[in-house]
Amino acid sequence: MEEIKIFCPATIANISCGFDVLGVALDSVGDEMVIRKTSKKGIFITKLEGQDLPMETDRNVAGVAGLAFLAESDYEGGFEIEIYKKIKAGSGIGSSAASSTGAVWAMNELLGRPFSTSKLVEFSMEGERLASGVAHADNVAPALFGGFTLVRSYAPLDIVPINCPAELFATVIHPQIEIKTSDSRKILKTNITLKEGIKQWGNLGGLIAGLFTEDYDLIGRSLVDHIVEPIRSILIPGFNDVKTSSLAAGALGCGISGSGPSIFAFSRGEATAEKVAQAMKDVYQKIGIDHDVHISKINTEGIREIK
Ligand code: HSE
Repeated sequence: MEEIKIFCPATIANISCGFDVLGVALDSVGDEMVIRKTSKKGIFITKLEGQDLPMETDRNVAGVAGLAFLAESDYEGGFEIEIYKKIKAGSGIGSSAASSTGAVWAMNELLGRPFSTSKLVEFSMEGERLASGVAHADNVAPALFGGFTLVRSYAPLDIVPINCPAELFATVIHPQIEIKTSDSRKILKTNITLKEGIKQWGNLGGLIAGLFTEDYDLIGRSLVDHIVEPIRSILIPGFNDVKTSSLAAGALGCGISGSGPSIFAFSRGEATAEKVAQAMKDVYQKIGIDHDVHISKINTEGIREIK
């Protein structure tokens, strides 16, 4: 195979109680990319549509992830990359992760899969380092593995795929402001108290247990963030109202998607996810903020080839 066209899913990172360790892939929101082999060694971004982003290889997340891949590969040629962005940069649903994972996943396919999925996570993390200053894996891991993933450890990297309950749907609203992950990380405190830690890991354990046992009530009770949300939500207009309205409309839980400004909610069943979307939209219509809404089932396969 010389060329491949792919769908790269958007992702929700953190999922309330799992800052930097939990993430999930979405099914109906994502970018498209075309990757082709070239005889010339190197990574070349030949097309970038939909967003105003750098095309120089070393300033583009797909380029940087691709270079990390090439550095460990014995392939003598190179790759051209076309990126068709549907995910807005700075929206909080893994725009950079979609590009960096898409590049390395496709390159791996074109070379007959020399690398494991975990190794592709490592290459993609270089894209995240470029985008946010920190090589976090909570967006790139679910984009590559599909479904929910837990980063059990960063050193050594240990990614654990988590079960996805069949009836779970996500609603995501993106108020049209941009928040850079690097900025929203700077405002976080670097120490937490033992009391805060106890509450947070109680919820993280509860959420993982709820996902495996498909206990929707437990999932809902566990979607609580005592550490990051109280600080970051200040940057998101209408956050508290969106959250209150989502829960009133039947959502299991609601929180900030990644570093924001998007807000996500999980629901049991598509009908409830649609009611939640309406409740979220009503809040932003009332306060006059433009927004996009996505309703999606969970994507359990990750990046996929498209025709
Ligand atoms: N865990 C990262 C953060 C995700 O919250 O900064 C960024 O999408």
